[in-house]
Amino acid sequence: SFTPNAFVEEIVAELQTKIGSDRVVLGLSGGVDSTVAAVLLHKAIGKNLYCIFVNNGLLRKNEFENVLKQYEHMGLNVKGVDASAQFLDALARISEPEAKRKAIGRVFIEVFDQEAHKIEDVTWLAQGTIYPDVIESISVKGPSATIKSHHNVGGLPDYMKLKIVEPLRMLFKDEVRRVGKTLGIDAALLGRHPFPGPGLSIRILGDITREKVTLLQEVDAIFIDGLKSWGLYDSVWQAGAILLPVNSVGVMGDERTYEKVVALRAVQSTDGMTADWVHLPYDFLMKISNEIINKVKGVNRVVYDISSKPPATIEWE
Ligand code: XMP
Repeated sequence: SFTPNAFVEEIVAELQTKIGSDRVVLGLSGGVDSTVAAVLLHKAIGKNLYCIFVNNGLLRKNEFENVLKQYEHMGLNVKGVDASAQFLDALARISEPEAKRKAIGRVFIEVFDQEAHKIEDVTWLAQGTIYPDVIESISVKGPSATIKSHHNVGGLPDYMKLKIVEPLRMLFKDEVRRVGKTLGIDAALLGRHPFPGPGLSIRILGDITREKVTLLQEVDAIFIDGLKSWGLYDSVWQAGAILLPVNSVGVMGDERTYEKVVALRAVQSTDGMTADWVHLPYDFLMKISNEIINKVKGVNRVVYDISSKPPATIEWE
């Protein structure tokens, strides 16, 4: 059976032998995998690990600042790069989901490449690839490769000429979490819900503007904070809000409104391949719906997604 302590000891020794005194660059995403990979590498090679955390402008509310601070507290050598404007420019007037993913993937590579080149003599690229990602990218005809191009799987282009190191490539997600725990990583960070690489761009149906991103960040924050304060967050595998491209009629005081609809989604799953919608308590849904409509200007209706995967997917795009 898997023992995290033994794994850490072995992989650290292996990384030290393999990398020696070379320099390594790693892209942090705020997620569990890249964080655990970074901490392992930091343990093995210390200051020769250079981390880059890119803000694509499509993260959750305050996520970039909060996660960056957390990384700094963990002693990681991390550079935060705010490329929001570049991403939002590249997404302007794009509505088609795959086109959004492609645009984001392209800009991410541009930004990362530019930053990586600023690090002198870097020869390795570290990635938080885990075993299911490896399997997924081998079976290129598999469902996720054909249905959605997961831009953060498969890595960066060859022209970067970096050798690849993937310390987690033999591990499953739960093993990664156990390794993270052994390494002393904050439980809240290890228990974070999965969040897609293209971020809120695939939860804003249709075209993306800065205003829509801000609106959805507010809605999402109310939903996620609500899940946490009601003690529901840890019993849900993934949750988020979706901004629909329709207006509906509502009434506020004596005024008729014609504003946006948001959908809330919460699912139970083990690997994201199948998922069931979660039976969130009606009292919770009522409270959250009121809070969203009262606090977020431009939203007058909230719906709850009761579709499971398959035939629906977790994300709406
Ligand atoms: P779906 O919507 O395919 O989502 O049921 C399954 C899981 O994958 C995440 N997802 C993505 N993750 N890039 C990512 O890094 C993507 O393009 C992408 N699309 C979906 C989704 O959030 C869920 O956890």
